[in-house]
Amino acid sequence: MTTLTPTANPTALPQAGAHAPLPGGLPDPATLARLTNEFFSTLPGNAGAPGVAAGSGAVGGVPSALPAAAPILASVSNPAPAGSPLAGPGGTGTGVPGLELPQGKVPGANLAPSAPTHVLALGNRAPALAPHAAAANGLPDNAVAIASALEPRVGGALLGVPQAYGAVEPVPAEAKAGSGSPFYFTGSDGHGWQREAQEIVVPAQGRAAPETFGLPGDDALRGLLTLNRPEYGGHDGPARYFLAERENAAPQADVLRGAHPPFDVNAVRRDFPILQERVNGKQLVWFDNAATTHKPQAVIDRLGYFYAHENSNIHRAAHALAARATDAYEHARKTVQRFIGASAPEEIVFVRGTTEAINLIAKSWGVQNVGEGDEIIVSHLEHHANIVPWQQLAALKGAKLRVIPVDDSGQVLLDEYRKLLNDRTKIVSVTQVSNALGTVVPVQEIVDLAHRAGARALVDGAQSISHMRVDVQALDADFFVFSGHKIYGPTGIGVVYGKREVLEAMPPWQGGGNMIQDVTFEKTVFHGAPARFEAGTGNVADAVGLGAALDYVSRIGIENIARYEHDLLAYATSVLAPVPGVRLVGTVRDKASVLSFVLKGYTTEEVGQALSREGIAVRAGHHCAQPILRRFGLEATVRPSLAFYNTCAEVDALVSVVRGLAPRQ
Ligand code: ALA
Repeated sequence: MTTLTPTANPTALPQAGAHAPLPGGLPDPATLARLTNEFFSTLPGNAGAPGVAAGSGAVGGVPSALPAAAPILASVSNPAPAGSPLAGPGGTGTGVPGLELPQGKVPGANLAPSAPTHVLALGNRAPALAPHAAAANGLPDNAVAIASALEPRVGGALLGVPQAYGAVEPVPAEAKAGSGSPFYFTGSDGHGWQREAQEIVVPAQGRAAPETFGLPGDDALRGLLTLNRPEYGGHDGPARYFLAERENAAPQADVLRGAHPPFDVNAVRRDFPILQERVNGKQLVWFDNAATTHKPQAVIDRLGYFYAHENSNIHRAAHALAARATDAYEHARKTVQRFIGASAPEEIVFVRGTTEAINLIAKSWGVQNVGEGDEIIVSHLEHHANIVPWQQLAALKGAKLRVIPVDDSGQVLLDEYRKLLNDRTKIVSVTQVSNALGTVVPVQEIVDLAHRAGARALVDGAQSISHMRVDVQALDADFFVFSGHKIYGPTGIGVVYGKREVLEAMPPWQGGGNMIQDVTFEKTVFHGAPARFEAGTGNVADAVGLGAALDYVSRIGIENIARYEHDLLAYATSVLAPVPGVRLVGTVRDKASVLSFVLKGYTTEEVGQALSREGIAVRAGHHCAQPILRRFGLEATVRPSLAFYNTCAEVDALVSVVRGLAPRQ
């Protein structure tokens, strides 16, 4: 009898078939199938072997003998039956690291087994498994990376990342009976999510080597922060933003030093499975954080846990899952309250996002308080979401929209703002960080001046919430709004913070269930805030996911994040600004995250597409902020926007693409 197994004697395989071997000395699928078929044919009584007779037709152009190979290949590669959830990523299929021959490592090999599950499941993980160029960010590009992408919990363990979210512990005492919760369900049996924070490992004191978290070392940094970086050649003029800063700044060697312990950016990156994704054969570089941020495994797991163990409508029904879901939702509200420094959970209203938040305020507070001839002030920097609802209100009421101008660096002109304020001003609504330019706006002064004029103040935190500490009581804003998806939480959930007395005086803006105390056909008695603003079934799961995101950010420390991002933005600006043909738009000293630019000779779309070909995601367009771009004579910019999981190596990859385009003048 011939002894022939596909793996026992790999050196024999290339000679066994007419096809050229694949890289790595493995046979092509047709050869593999033929050899396997021969193997089965040599077994005693093979005619009755399971699976041999089961599939005898050609599948997807594969010769009809192929299905005979399915049983043995399937047993090597995936013990889970077709259709089982275990067959997909994260199950016991070949996506689990450690198996010697992960399916998909041999191009086309996934087509050989008969189990359709494999083909489908591989579709999910193909980007992570596909042959590719070296990762742009210097992270290991191998089974470890795959582990994180396919089975993040396993991957995390392999990588030495603590299993942060065990999902097995009971709810904390505050969520149990007697906690003072207004919801009678909270005396449930305590089955629930582990809410105890697990520390992100950061050096307890002192500073880690910058190299540890993907940044250049001090010596390298001195060179990198020199605007005439030799490897990038000369540049077209001063980089205003950093030149000014550097002239007045402490020695550059201190750029990465300070009181804040740095976090380990590579450990952080392993918490975000999507960062292992491949785009056009390259590891994804996500520089579209101003549009949306990615989600750490903690958030993904929390959402999964909610749907697996807690899913229910809330505030209704005396059953266990309603209790769990209600507790989880109200706990998330408290998490938001703590995160932004509100004085009570009742000051936190859940909405879909920043856009809905501003609409709520305009359509409730605005309709109640703004009249004919009144004035509403916004800044020239605003996102359309902080312009259009006020325009609609002004049109409805016969009020006027007035605009704080900006200077050529993209900063609001406070003196001009002072001139706009008067006793007709009812509300001032400004962004804390410009989504198009990255300008950090002096909102504290703007709020203060608004109050002195007797107006209310709204701060749009959509672009600031993930980049800096927000303390709404210190800020004294009447309203503060943000979206969950900009701070590593889910889409479809956002927040209106309103001072309690302001919210209590506002009428509901939508009517329905959940927001009423009593309804007759004659009249309705509404709940107080926040329920009166949460008509209908809310986005319970995503509110819970937002809470998990804020917990995650808190464990790392928003100050640590702010400092790291500041240094990364400084570095990015120093290497992008000198590229010939690049014009940075938004050059004020106080900026967060955003590097808007145009490249001479190219449309912003062309630059965006060139970057995308290298796996680098940026937004190119008007960023839903047309007025501010037109202020600079533009209809669009290319907008890389950074987050704390980005690295200097990723910045280098972006700059290298832009430099590659630069010669067209
Ligand atoms: N507001 C988001 C952005 O700036 C969508 O891209």
